[in-house]
Amino acid sequence: MSVAKKDYKRITTKSLIEMKANGEKISMLTSYDFTMAKIVDSAGIDVILVGDSASNVMAGHETTLPITLDQMIYHASSVVRAASRALIVIDLPFGSYQSDPKEALRSSIRIMKESGAHAVKLEGGSEIKDSIKKILNAGIPVMGHLGLTPQSIYKFGTYTVRAKEDAEAEKLLEDAKLLEKLGCFALVLEKIPAKLAEKVAQSISIPVIGIGAGGGVDGQVLVIHDMLGMNNEFSPRFLRRYMNLYDDMTRAIGQYVTDVKSHDFPSEKEQY
Ligand code: KIV
Repeated sequence: MSVAKKDYKRITTKSLIEMKANGEKISMLTSYDFTMAKIVDSAGIDVILVGDSASNVMAGHETTLPITLDQMIYHASSVVRAASRALIVIDLPFGSYQSDPKEALRSSIRIMKESGAHAVKLEGGSEIKDSIKKILNAGIPVMGHLGLTPQSIYKFGTYTVRAKEDAEAEKLLEDAKLLEKLGCFALVLEKIPAKLAEKVAQSISIPVIGIGAGGGVDGQVLVIHDMLGMNNEFSPRFLRRYMNLYDDMTRAIGQYVTDVKSHDFPSEKEQY
């Protein structure tokens, strides 16, 4: 299949809006550290998300709730040092924006100042509209996130598909329109029916980037550890694994252990 692709030196929020208008799909992946972000950026990704999924895949927590603002800034600044082309978006972690708009702005300013990132992402719709307004008024670009919102896991109790019922689907569509009206530059839709996601993407002019939201949206995002197959315990239907790094790395490390134990490593050529 041919891939419509304009050559961008640096992706900006404007580039993403242009991509949607031109029918060019947007590619987005997470990264949390310098080395991974350098590879992801060199491979031509449009957006790097420093997701609060770092709480799961980097720190081993069961949910995204425990990660702190300081920890997100640490991950974000490592990614910013690595990437020269991608737009870099950072998740505001749980507890750094829900209590009031002033705190949301303070957290966003810390992220932008201390990491050098380009935009922030927040989970939620009308209930956080005042925080979104406050952040946008300070000139900080905001990406929305609707559908399955992992920071609310204890409210919903499961990670199953969201907005299957009419009332929730209607609220999601209204929230998407509100986020566009407020001035968000893009929106993530997580784990919702493909038909609803497509309807949202067609109803608003800002790009809609999906994860488990089907092919009718303007772009796709995956967690890098999942798509590289570094984690063999997480296999949702929406995930396409491009490698099986868990097995490859286990094999390589096992071989290293064998080589060290058997005195095979280092050889004559591998010493001074
Ligand atoms: O934290 C994250 O990785 C995310 C993506 C799943 C969209 O929010």
